[in-house]
Amino acid sequence: MSVLVAPSILSADFAALGDAIDAAQRGGADLIHVDVMDGHFVPNITMGPPVVKSIKRVAKVPLDVHLMITDPDKYIDAFADAGATMMSVHVEVLPHLHRTVHAIKALGVRAGVVLNPATPPVMLEDIAADVDYVLVMSVNPGFGGQTFIPRSESKVREVRELLDRAGNRAPVAIDGGIDQQNVAKVVSAGARIIVAGSAIFHTPDPERATRELKAAALAAAMSVPL
Ligand code: DX5
Ligand code: ZN
Repeated sequence: MSVLVAPSILSADFAALGDAIDAAQRGGADLIHVDVMDGHFVPNITMGPPVVKSIKRVAKVPLDVHLMITDPDKYIDAFADAGATMMSVHVEVLPHLHRTVHAIKALGVRAGVVLNPATPPVMLEDIAADVDYVLVMSVNPGFGGQTFIPRSESKVREVRELLDRAGNRAPVAIDGGIDQQNVAKVVSAGARIIVAGSAIFHTPDPERATRELKAAALAAAMSVPL
């Protein structure tokens, strides 16, 4: 699989989300990453199903919905109805992760699981065969514009190996502090879905920033075929 770029609209102007999505898509965005926060699991509040539904009307690419909420089981139906193509949930909040992953899949949605920076890859051991993707957080979730945590690079490698051992070629995604400077190293480590917010939307030209980030990611993937 090639590399997919997923601009995170958390760093876009919420009063002009349609324009932000258009620009990212013109730049070659493969997915739109939507950060859902509840002010409980993370110290920030963002958007819910009605906003996702509106985004769905204007987006031409699939929506990747990242649920940073304490009780995802309550809301997965609503986000599926709103138009999520992919949905990821945090292992830190789910005692019955296997049930949740299969509930997401039963809705026809690709199921991802997310690891916070302090959560070790071993937490995936018993779910590795079931997931459609794994998202490695390279910052503590809650805000855009934070600095990439260096340990995340080796973590991507370890998660890739763990999935391979489970016979699962599902992609590893990375989210947090990704930019033109560090994208090559995370792709070389095995990341195949690149989430980026401020490196795209906190620039004067998000279309161009998307295009350049994708070019850098694809170049890195070419040089280290997995
Ligand atoms: C962080 C979110 C990220 C965030 C990334 O809690 O999950 O998706 O938008 O933003 P940057 O790329 O600015 O770190
Ligand atoms: Zn995210």
